[in-house]
Amino acid sequence: MLFDSHAHLDDERFGEDRMEVIEAMPEAGVGLIMNVGADMPSSRRSVVLAKKYPFIYAAVGVHPHEVEEMTDEDLQDLKDLAGEEKVRAIGEIGLDYYYDNSPRDKQKVWFEKQIELAQELELPIIIHCRDAMQDCLNILRKYDFSRTSGVMHCFSGSAETAAEIVKMGFYVAFGGAITFKNNKKACGVVQSVPMERLLIETDCPYLTPEPHRGKRNDSRYVKYVAEKIAEFRGITVEEVEQTTMFNAKCLFQIDQ
Ligand code: NI
Repeated sequence: MLFDSHAHLDDERFGEDRMEVIEAMPEAGVGLIMNVGADMPSSRRSVVLAKKYPFIYAAVGVHPHEVEEMTDEDLQDLKDLAGEEKVRAIGEIGLDYYYDNSPRDKQKVWFEKQIELAQELELPIIIHCRDAMQDCLNILRKYDFSRTSGVMHCFSGSAETAAEIVKMGFYVAFGGAITFKNNKKACGVVQSVPMERLLIETDCPYLTPEPHRGKRNDSRYVKYVAEKIAEFRGITVEEVEQTTMFNAKCLFQIDQ
């Protein structure tokens, strides 16, 4: 069975058929899903989904796009939400200098405050980092991740950066972008990450893999990511499934 380590099934693009899509998952080979918050409402919705479906777990956090208006009260609300049984990570949190939707100083402040919350609660973090890798690594280096690790979601950097992230104790997650035909460097980067640190994800409804690129993404399509990794590494899809399932369960402390 597949573990989609990063989904947004609460997104409004599933407004019409969310139940159908989610209920089709086990039959489509998707055994577990981490549904990730991106702001306060979606964090709450993630918790609701996790309560409703046995195979969905939740992460709560505020994405760098949304931190401009974030308050200490929100941080307290995240802490309360994180007390729910199936919340297994703080995320997605990080830095995004590509869109710069929030001022960079605020992005840094709230990234750090949310890392500190995760450390206090002994939860792993789900990191979103776009065009900000140096600042992101500098912030991560301030903390001790020997007990609570995390994952660099939707990784698109170099093999050198991946090695640095692995050395710091994090997992590296690949998504639909590695299936794109114009992604020439993906193969080398995927090959460079040790199997025991690999995760797979969809980031649905975004980043739909080939051969469905352009349509809405959902967790079933995580199989195309697994197939691509198997192809790049010259191993079986089953091996990718089993290893990434094992890794995600370790990271998110799921013993189901
Ligand atoms: Ni995401």
